[in-house]
This record gives sequence, C-alpha cells and structure tokens, in this order.
Amino acid sequence: MGSLLQLQKRSMALAGLVMAAYLIFHMLTNLSFLSETNFNNFYQWYNAGPIRWLVLLIMIVAMFIHVKAAIRIRQVTSKARTIDNKKHDKFKIPALFVTASIIFLLTFIVVHIIQTLMFDTDILYSEIAQLFQSELMVLFYLAGLFVLMMHLQHSLANVLQTLGKTSVTCHSLVWIATLLLTGGFALIPLYSYFGLS
Ligand code: HEM
Repeated sequence: MGSLLQLQKRSMALAGLVMAAYLIFHMLTNLSFLSETNFNNFYQWYNAGPIRWLVLLIMIVAMFIHVKAAIRIRQVTSKARTIDNKKHDKFKIPALFVTASIIFLLTFIVVHIIQTLMFDTDILYSEIAQLFQSELMVLFYLAGLFVLMMHLQHSLANVLQTLGKTSVTCHSLVWIATLLLTGGFALIPLYSYFGLS
C-alpha cells in the first residue's frame, strides 16, 4: 500500500511539473498581448502545425493523471488519519473549502479551453479583447487566477516540505514565483477591460 501511495504521489508531482512548465510558457507567450501584431503572429504560428493540439493533449492527460492521483491519495490518507493527526495541522483549511476551490479551478480551465476552441485563430487578439469587455468574464478569470495562485502556493510549499526545504527564503521564493505567474496572466483581462489595448 505504501509504495502504491508513493507511486501516486510521484505521478501527481510529475504531472504537476508538466503543467507548471506549460503555465510559465503560456504566461510568457501571452505577454506578447502588449503588441497586437506579435500576439497574432505568435498564435498563427502556434496554430499552423500540430503543436497546439499536441500541447492540448499533453495538458488534458497531465490534468487527468494529477486529479486521479489526488483523489486516490485523499482516499488512502483519509482512511489512515487518526484524531491525533489533527493536532499537527497548524493551519487546517476546511476540506469542503479545498474541494470547492479545486472544482472551481477545474471548471475555470475547462471553460477557458472551450472558449479558446471557439475563437477564430486568425484574429485571436480581437477575440480576447472582446471577451474581456464583459465584467463577468474579467471577474471569472481573476477569480480563476486567484484560486490557481493559492493552489500553486499551497502545493509548492508541500513539495518544499517533502524536500526538507522549510526556510523562509524558499517560501518567499514560492510566493514571488506564484505572484509573478498569476499576475502576468491577470495583466491581459485588466489591460483589455481598462481600454489599454
Ligand atoms: C488571462 C489569462 C489567459 C489568457 C488570455 C489565455 C489565452 C489563451 C489562448 C489565446 C489560447 C490558445 C488559443 C489558440 O491557440 O488558438 C489558450 C489556450 C490554453 N490555455 Fe490559456 N489563457 C489564459 C490563462 C490560462 C490559465 C490560467 C490556464 C491554466 C490554468 C490556461 C490553460 C490553457 C490551456 C490548457 C490551453 C490549450 C492548450 C493551448 O492551446 O496552448 N490558460 N489560452
């Protein structure tokens, strides 16, 4: 049972790493939104060959592995948990809240993928600029990015703990990295909504 749990944890971490690498790439390439020509040129190139579909497939598989392993780990650890363990959870967040935020994050990602599949890839810049004229969409994306930030912060802190790196410097670096990543994404809805594009 122990080694099976380790395997689940490893595949969850590996899938998480693949998704984190994609998110860095996605945020950095999206920064080209500051220039309409650069943004459209990048996405025309991205959509010209099989790359986009390959990336989408890898992301769906990684997400599936990550979620499936998380459910399995939760089942095993909740069975093994004793009352005493609770004393060691210093900052215990209610399980229902965690579940609700994960469901919201998954919904956000699925809705986002569906929206991007419906866009005309030749005029992606105006499609995105149009999407963020809606307050509802801006709020939905900002909320999704906020939950993503909390999720990354929490999971990276756990990874650091597993690696024995519990220093304040390491934790500060995780905060800075997650803020930069989600802040970089948040620039686009804000930039569009406030008419800077
Ligand atoms: C405001 C922030 C974001 C903007 C403006 C944005 C924009 C886009 C665009 C333009 C595409 C590709 C459309 C195409 O190639 O035709 C895309 C695809 C995608 N996005 Fe985002 N995105 C944002 C945030 C996110 C976040 C936070 C995630 C994940 C948590 C995400 C996950 C994906 C995935 C999985 C795809 C499909 C694979 C791909 O085409 O690269 N995006 N997004």
